[in-house]
Amino acid sequence: MSAASAVVRGLGGALPRKVVTNEHLSAVMDTSDEWIRRRTGIAERRHSDETESTSVLATMAGRRALASAGVDSAGLLIVATSTPDKVCPATAPKVAANLGLKGIAAFDVSAVCSGFVYALTTATWAIRSGSVDSALVIGADTFTRLLDPTDRTTSVIFGDGAGAAYLSAGTAEEPGAIKASTLHSDGEGETLIQVPEGPGSFFEMQGKEVFTQAVAAMSDSVETVLASAGWAAGDVDSLIAHQANLRILNTVASVTGIPASKAEVHLDRVGNTSAASIPLAMTDAGTKGHRSPGDKVVLTAFGGGTTWGAVAMTWPSISVVDPH
Ligand code: COA
Repeated sequence: MSAASAVVRGLGGALPRKVVTNEHLSAVMDTSDEWIRRRTGIAERRHSDETESTSVLATMAGRRALASAGVDSAGLLIVATSTPDKVCPATAPKVAANLGLKGIAAFDVSAVCSGFVYALTTATWAIRSGSVDSALVIGADTFTRLLDPTDRTTSVIFGDGAGAAYLSAGTAEEPGAIKASTLHSDGEGETLIQVPEGPGSFFEMQGKEVFTQAVAAMSDSVETVLASAGWAAGDVDSLIAHQANLRILNTVASVTGIPASKAEVHLDRVGNTSAASIPLAMTDAGTKGHRSPGDKVVLTAFGGGTTWGAVAMTWPSISVVDPH
């Protein structure tokens, strides 16, 4: 029998130990704290070391999401990542085994910065179809491994981390219910955000064009899920957009008519953590305690592919551990 709704019942995050401030970066490349804060809103980010692989951070975030939900298992595990531990095999089976969940369905989703919205929606489809009754969805990336450490256009933006959500079947009226979602892609934008083929290639991004497309795509998908959920922009209590750039968050708010004060800001302390960005921002909103069960929340992301999408949900009734 198909379930009425998928309901988020737990959240967790994990961050590497090493904090890299704007001052640290200014000492090794031609940039400044003033430029980075003014153009991006970022003050510091985390860099993983060799003991903090994507699977290690994913496992930590997943364990915290299960604990936050008060459960110790899930019927499905999806890891959204573009920086898997290995090209082959996927990271999710290892994370499942680390969590004592050997035997469950586990796979990776690769949609760069949109990965969490893709994985959350996929898990919602699986629960609503009745195929599984619960799922652990983890966004985890260690992008700093792909960066040219001397490239100021990417190094100032990206950081490492993981965030996770546990969902199970329930009703649309429960706090944490997923109300609507939309996913999209356009492979013609393949080269806007990429690691080109060839040995020794680093991550590269056409920042200005990405900025413009990200604003348009996220704003469109927010409007789509607001219409599907039957919510007006003024009803939204919290806009949790992919944490790429403070100017992007404010512009999406202004285009969609959601007050900028409703946009959650976490990038100041972690930068752009790719697939981890939205669940980490959700975890941060949970630990700040300024969300109440049932609040109307919209998630949205844009990333390499290009890919984008949005989810409308209500805020769950949960307690969350601060990963900082
Ligand atoms: N420090 C100092 N100066 C820098 C710099 C840095 N880290 N990076 C670039 N600059 C310089 C440029 O060289 C340029 O100098 P010029 O005017 O002399 O040519 C100037 O600052 C402006 O560069 P520009 O690239 O036009 O800046 P911008 O305002 O577009 O900001 C980004 C750059 C990357 C912050 C911005 O484009 C952005 O956030 N894009 C979207 C990124 C994103 O969302 N990515 C993730 C999606 S998954």
